[in-house]
Amino acid sequence: MKRFILVTDLDNTLIGENDATLSLNEHLLELRDQFYLIYATGRSFDSVAHLMGFFQLLTHQSLLTPDYLVASVGTIIYHRSYPELGWQNHIDRGWDRDKVARALDNFPGLQSQSDREQNPWKLSFNLLGEDHKLTINQIQTRLLNFGLNCNIIFSSKNNLDIVPIHANKGLGILWLKQQLGITNLPTLVCGDSGNDISMYEHGFLGVIVKNAQPELLDWYQQNPSSNIFLSAQAYAWAILDGLNHFGLLPSH
Ligand code: GLC
Ligand code: MG
Repeated sequence: MKRFILVTDLDNTLIGENDATLSLNEHLLELRDQFYLIYATGRSFDSVAHLMGFFQLLTHQSLLTPDYLVASVGTIIYHRSYPELGWQNHIDRGWDRDKVARALDNFPGLQSQSDREQNPWKLSFNLLGEDHKLTINQIQTRLLNFGLNCNIIFSSKNNLDIVPIHANKGLGILWLKQQLGITNLPTLVCGDSGNDISMYEHGFLGVIVKNAQPELLDWYQQNPSSNIFLSAQAYAWAILDGLNHFGLLPSH
């Protein structure tokens, strides 16, 4: 019987300080059958596999195998290695990738990330120049002028993802909970940057790591909530802190 759902971002949340990850793993292994584990990341499936392999090489231990992987900023949801096709159909409504690409062709201040970061529901860029807020506003206006309503997600200094309006990490988790019929299970989401903001927007329990990026901290200042816990601890220590804070770990 599952008691709760643990959703965590990977880079700079679950991963970043190996001692913390290993300690969290030890706690979680003891109760592994009591919770659903979902990784929610900007990385693609291949990139997650690479990260997991690298972690193993470094630490001689494995990351826990998640029940689901919300990958590529919520544009693809995997169960083992299989994408959930229902999610793909869901987010495809009203999405026209080619038109988005055309609208942003040669846009000043935008540089495409490498091909392996792109997918049919995700266009990823690096922001150049100084005034990212201005560039993002201009992008938004351009897309609207083209009749395109997309999610524009800024993270970690200069990453910009453009994804369907129905897709992001938070919406992916909401959809998954509905599909699995587990909307009533307490859900703790953990993250550090802009692409995690959507996870905190649905009333789930949340923990923000101490090493969070300014865009997430700014968002929290504007949307404070007793459901969201700003941990004084960094990386995976904060996940453990959050689990304790919300009483999700059994007391010994
Ligand atoms: C990951 C992805 C990248 C994305 C970033 C922020 O690093 O690989 O494409 O822009 O997350 O979401
Ligand atoms: Mg992160």
